[in-house]
Amino acid sequence: MSRSQWGSRLGFILAAAGSAIGLGAIWKFPYVAATNGGGAFLFIYLLICMTVGLALMLGEMALGRAANSNAVGSFRQLGGRAWPWVGFTGVLVCFLIYSFYSVVGGWTIAYIGKSLSGSILTSDAKVLGDTFNGFITDPVQPLIYHGLFAGLTLAVVLGGVQKGIENLSKFLMPALFVLMLVLIVRGLTLPGAMDGLLYFLTPDFGKVTGTMLVDAMGLAFFSLSLGMGVMITYGSYVGRDTPLLGSSLWVIALTVMTCFLAGLMVLPAVFAFGFDPSAGPGLTFITMPAVFAQMAGGQLFAVLFFCLLLVAALTSSVSLLEVVVSAVMDEFKLPRRRAALLVSAGVFLLGIPASLSLGIWREYTVFGKGVFDLLDYITSNLLMPLGEVLLAVFVGWRVWPVVQGELAPGGRNPLWLRAMRGFCRYLAPVLILGILVHNL
Ligand code: TRP
Repeated sequence: MSRSQWGSRLGFILAAAGSAIGLGAIWKFPYVAATNGGGAFLFIYLLICMTVGLALMLGEMALGRAANSNAVGSFRQLGGRAWPWVGFTGVLVCFLIYSFYSVVGGWTIAYIGKSLSGSILTSDAKVLGDTFNGFITDPVQPLIYHGLFAGLTLAVVLGGVQKGIENLSKFLMPALFVLMLVLIVRGLTLPGAMDGLLYFLTPDFGKVTGTMLVDAMGLAFFSLSLGMGVMITYGSYVGRDTPLLGSSLWVIALTVMTCFLAGLMVLPAVFAFGFDPSAGPGLTFITMPAVFAQMAGGQLFAVLFFCLLLVAALTSSVSLLEVVVSAVMDEFKLPRRRAALLVSAGVFLLGIPASLSLGIWREYTVFGKGVFDLLDYITSNLLMPLGEVLLAVFVGWRVWPVVQGELAPGGRNPLWLRAMRGFCRYLAPVLILGILVHNL
């Protein structure tokens, strides 16, 4: 069976950008940036994306295309026996992330419904907080939406690389940008919006601390979907004639721009109505509905806002599922259909305790954390940095000639490529080990 391929370069770029642009860029970035030095955070985030982020993304795509295989197979083929478990860890992490990502994805579907019915259109933050907590701690409702979200993701991945993932991305990514622009214009034209804009963008370099750097790096790698085999898998579907440098620059530019736009979308509106921008994760599900409640035409904008979150989450979850499905298909010689159903069933089951740990199973904790927080903690703080260091070492030290051949055919070694090698060999391992030590 020959390996699937993207139908066009644009399709590949939008699918990879779809993976990158997700809850990280739209949900997390605005409040993390706002509370961590505003413009200074944005600047450092951009710097990380354009150096180490670019190097790792190029490395992953080159690995996948050179080996023409999934995340596990690529490491085995290029690195020999000692390495496939690095790919395996990546696949496992995608599976784990997907299980709680799908729970949150389900919340966005539920909130589209709550916006349509108007039940969350109140400016009473207390009521909204109770609604949100009541919903996520409910033993049944979130599970239904989790199943719905996982089912949507499954339907796309069942469609395959071109007909499923690529077509979805070509349709939804432009839609995502249109939705964002509509919401930004609405937010910026509110009286008092300028204060929010200034709060978001004014750089405060006094807030550049170790913790802030660790946050910026963690968010950069998470929001670019790096280190876990996504770009290896997507790279393995890329044809030889597609330039990888230009493509990954596009993916990074789109992601960074989305982070910036997400801040523009959320913070001016939050300021205009006098809410607290450091509300953290609750900003999306508690503060934003209150903002919409006070806005002319707010119900429409609320529906659009949660549709946007759903779109962003869906194109990302598709990539998480595809990494696992692609590995299971190759390694166990299963057809796509069977692999996708099997993995989805597993993810659905693991999402159940994750969701319940926010409510009726709150008492069951390990190291003081419920299943949901534990999954988040283990993946984001331990396994992801570990996978990224190993990827950087693998690309920079173990198989650099192969990667170089993919990125600059014909034995050329331009300056940018030498810079990338330096980032993979030295900068990335040092920085990411710094994250790991900090987290431990
Ligand atoms: N990048 C996505 C986001 O920002 C999440 C994501 C998708 C991801 N695939 C990934 C994160 C692989 C890490 C690894 O929401």
